[in-house]
Amino acid sequence: MTVLGYGSELYWIVLVLSGLKKPFFCHCEERSEEAISLLKIPFNKGKIYIENGGKNGGGNFNNKSMSHREKYNLIKLNLGYRNKETNLLISETDYIEMSIKKKILSSIKQKPYFSKDDFVLYKNDCLKLLEQLPKNSIDMIFADPPYFLSSGSFTCKNGRMVSVKKGDWDLSNGMKRDFEFHFEWINACYRVLKPEGTIWISGTYHSIYQCGFALQANNFHLLNDIAWFKPNASPNLSCRFFTASHETLLWARKDKKGKHKFNYKLMKEGNWPEDFIKKPHLQMRSVWAIYPPKKEEKTFGKHPTQKPIDLLKRIVLASTDKGDIVLDPFAGSSTTGLACALNKRKFIGIDTEKKYLDLSIKRLKELIRKQNSKLKI
Ligand SMILES: C[S@@+](CC[C@H](N)C(=O)[O-])C[C@H]1O[C@@H](n2cnc3c(N)ncnc32)[C@H](O)[C@@H]1O
Repeated sequence: MTVLGYGSELYWIVLVLSGLKKPFFCHCEERSEEAISLLKIPFNKGKIYIENGGKNGGGNFNNKSMSHREKYNLIKLNLGYRNKETNLLISETDYIEMSIKKKILSSIKQKPYFSKDDFVLYKNDCLKLLEQLPKNSIDMIFADPPYFLSSGSFTCKNGRMVSVKKGDWDLSNGMKRDFEFHFEWINACYRVLKPEGTIWISGTYHSIYQCGFALQANNFHLLNDIAWFKPNASPNLSCRFFTASHETLLWARKDKKGKHKFNYKLMKEGNWPEDFIKKPHLQMRSVWAIYPPKKEEKTFGKHPTQKPIDLLKRIVLASTDKGDIVLDPFAGSSTTGLACALNKRKFIGIDTEKKYLDLSIKRLKELIRKQNSKLKI
């Protein structure tokens, strides 16, 4: 990298040579273009970024006692784009992305329950939180709403009888009120999604048809319904029905004519060892065989309807790019958030229950610990 000063005042520029992985940015004043032409900088070697009005000024560039190296260090210290949390210099793209996230979160009046880098949790009713988010600001939403199937009855799990009550949040309020609930939160999601953004909703037959109708009634355009097949589903105790062994995932786009993201090649050519239905180099189909959460996903206790990380990884990788903002209005133990953290997506999670948010934090910290220990190795 070469740093050049020019003129009797404070015109300076930074040349980013093509060998550098991340360009370095700084401010300069309007006459820099003149400086560039006079100095005959070899443009073909790199890019020159110009911005008007560096507020820290470049007065030091007139200081004849300073070497170029010292001036360069000074730019690094004062004028580069900087991640305030880590104090590291970052690229312009990262800087803009961070400002967008900041802008989104600054519109929310309440303080996050937890925030670390690109992982933010809010404790609230999702309707109250969603109405504070700016419209057209979110790239993708994954929602795993209450299925409203809790009751006083029992089911069989791993050979044991267990209560069907997941929590008060899962109790039905009757078909009409349950539908109104789904309609309202889906309507709130429509407002905050970007026009090209997509929404995923998971559920069983107890809730998924209501959600599907609410999506259509809110002008969403359905893209797929995925059958998530659970190979080891519990047997049916009554022996009067088929054994329920799948859940449905609806995937819909906000704008009927919009161009949504689908990472087709990754889905087709990627490595999906967890799924015996997916054959190498063939298109990914709409039936996914994925086992429920593994033991290590429940190290800190488990959420009663926790989704497997493999499922959320696939959803995040299929429909978002690095840096995208993903929102989960019913975050639970934040499986979506972990899939985002693993794949460099930004995550905003909402849940009403403290105990699930605390579980989310433990899971994230464990993931960071594992990532760091891998880095050291
Ligand atoms: C089906 S669970 C989500 C589980 C999550 N996908 C996971 O992997 O852990 C639904 C969650 O929604 C939360 N919830 C229910 N009603 C809510 C509301 N109105 N606003 C925000 N969260 C809500 C519940 O506390 C529960 O944790």
